[in-house]
Formats: sequence, structure tokens, C-alpha cells
Amino acid sequence: MLIAEDRDGSIVGTVQLITAQPENQPHRADVAKMLVHRKVRRRGVAHALMSELDRIAREEKKSVLVLDTVTGGDTERLYQRAGWQRVGSVPNYALMTDGALCGTTFYCKQLGSRRQSAHRKYLKISTTCL
Ligand SMILES: CC(C)(COP(=O)(O)OP(=O)(O)OC[C@H]1O[C@@H](n2cnc3c(N)ncnc32)[C@H](O)[C@@H]1OP(=O)(O)O)[C@@H](O)C(=O)NCCC(=O)NCCS
Repeated sequence: MLIAEDRDGSIVGTVQLITAQPENQPHRADVAKMLVHRKVRRRGVAHALMSELDRIAREEKKSVLVLDTVTGGDTERLYQRAGWQRVGSVPNYALMTDGALCGTTFYCKQLGSRRQSAHRKYLKISTTCL
């Protein structure tokens, strides 16, 4: 689990890299639970978390990352800008908080050895293993 803190040490964002996978997919990891505090949105926190997540995934010898997100949501642009490839959508995949069905879009990323851009300076990103 990655945790982003601002200069004051307040937690402002988080994302999870799920590395435990079936025996025939040791090179794959899933990405889940991306969440940034409302007060700091649109300032690059999610982008910084994704960048650090790529670095850690490479360190863990993961070369294929997969995630899913609500179809048509704000996050689709975030992932596309971070170099993720849209795989496809499944209609009526999940429930929204109001109980309505929503589609889910799957994304993947093939990790090369490319270096990632530096984080924004005001963020500290730490990791915890669950
Ligand atoms: C989606 C979310 C994680 C984005 O976090 P953020 O820190 O504001 O994102 P960033 O500032 O790093 O934005 C990076 C890019 O994502 C896209 N993006 C982020 N928020 C967006 C929005 N509200 N609308 C459209 N695009 C958005 C943009 O492309 C943005 O880059 P740009 O500003 O240069 O165009 C945040 O809004 C959030 O926590 N939402 C609620 C939880 C959620 O939906 N989680 C996703 C689960 S899959």
C-alpha cells in the first residue's frame, strides 16, 4: 500500500499494488483502491502515486499491471495519461453506491525498464505491506 503525505505529514492519497497472484502469473500485479483527498485533487497526487507504483512494481519484478475502473469516470483520463492501455469494458459489472449497475473498464500496462519522472517535491510517498 502506498501512502502520500503532504509537507505537514497529513495523508492525502493512497493506492494499492497487489502482488500476490496465481502461480502462473508471478510477473503480474493488480492496482486497486486509488483515492486522493478532495482538498488536494487536480494537483498531481494520483499521478505521483502511479509513478511511484510503477517504480515499486519494477523493483518487485512485475512486468504486467492490470486495473479496472468505472467506465466513463474521471480516472479513465488519469490512467490513459499515465501510459495505461484500455483493454475493454464490461457492462453492468459493479454496483454504484446508490445501488445502480455500472460498467467497468479494464486497463493494462506493460512495464519496461524506462525510468519514471520525479515526484512533486511537496509529497512524501511511503509504502506498507499488508
Ligand atoms: C481520480 C482521483 C484519484 C484523481 O486524483 P488527483 O490527485 O486529483 O489526480 P491528478 O491531479 O494526479 O491528475 C492526473 C490526471 O488525471 C486526470 N484527472 C484527475 N482528476 C480528473 C477529473 N476530475 N476529471 C478529469 N480528469 C481528471 C487528468 O488527466 C489529470 O491530469 P491533468 O490535470 O494534467 O489533465 C481522485 O479524483 C479521487 O480520489 N477520486 C475518487 C476516488 C476514485 O474515483 N478512485 C478511482 C478508483 S479506480
